[in-house]
Amino acid sequence: MKVVVITGNLNRPSKTRAVADYVVDRARASGDEAISWDLVQLHPHLGAAIWPANAAEIVKAALDDVATCDVLIVGSPVYKASYTGLLKHLFDLLDMRALKGRYVIPFATGKSPPHGPLVEASMRALFDFFDAQVSDNFIFALDEDFDEAGLSANLRALVDKELDTARRAVSP
Ligand SMILES: Cc1cc2nc3c(=O)[nH]c(=O)nc-3n(C[C@H](O)[C@H](O)[C@H](O)COP(=O)(O)O)c2cc1C
Repeated sequence: MKVVVITGNLNRPSKTRAVADYVVDRARASGDEAISWDLVQLHPHLGAAIWPANAAEIVKAALDDVATCDVLIVGSPVYKASYTGLLKHLFDLLDMRALKGRYVIPFATGKSPPHGPLVEASMRALFDFFDAQVSDNFIFALDEDFDEAGLSANLRALVDKELDTARRAVSP
């Protein structure tokens, strides 16, 4: 299956990107095709794109990967109680039929536990708009879910479980 990870981090190193890198490693280890895009790669072209047709090639490539995935994993750092604004802009450029029926795993990283459900609700609203099949679970990772080595064992287990569920959901 083709696994595409989109993350809304604007910095590196990034906890959100660390989750994305872990997903890519796990997916490839299972024989999947896996690719990851973050906003650091797409800056400054994403913000400069008003319409998909005149977007830079790198933005079109990211949109094309989203539109051709079997499983989409979307994560963001929490900024001001939501996912990052530029991440929304990427999905604003996406054709409204592109995610119909596709399996989406949402997640976020943040510092304030009460903000997890807020980001979950806004991400669910976005992917419900696209008529995607959104995982029942939402991963909200706090600072204590990371250490110098990267993701904690607990966070890795949550991600592994989500990937297994997604694989079963999209397998013929
Ligand atoms: C501009 C800005 C706004 C933030 N707003 C929130 C917030 O509203 N709620 C929260 O829990 N964390 C907030 N944070 C903290 C980040 O979500 C948190 O540190 C996150 O894990 C950073 O992810 P990254 O390492 O991928 O950039 C904010 C951080 C920044 C830089």
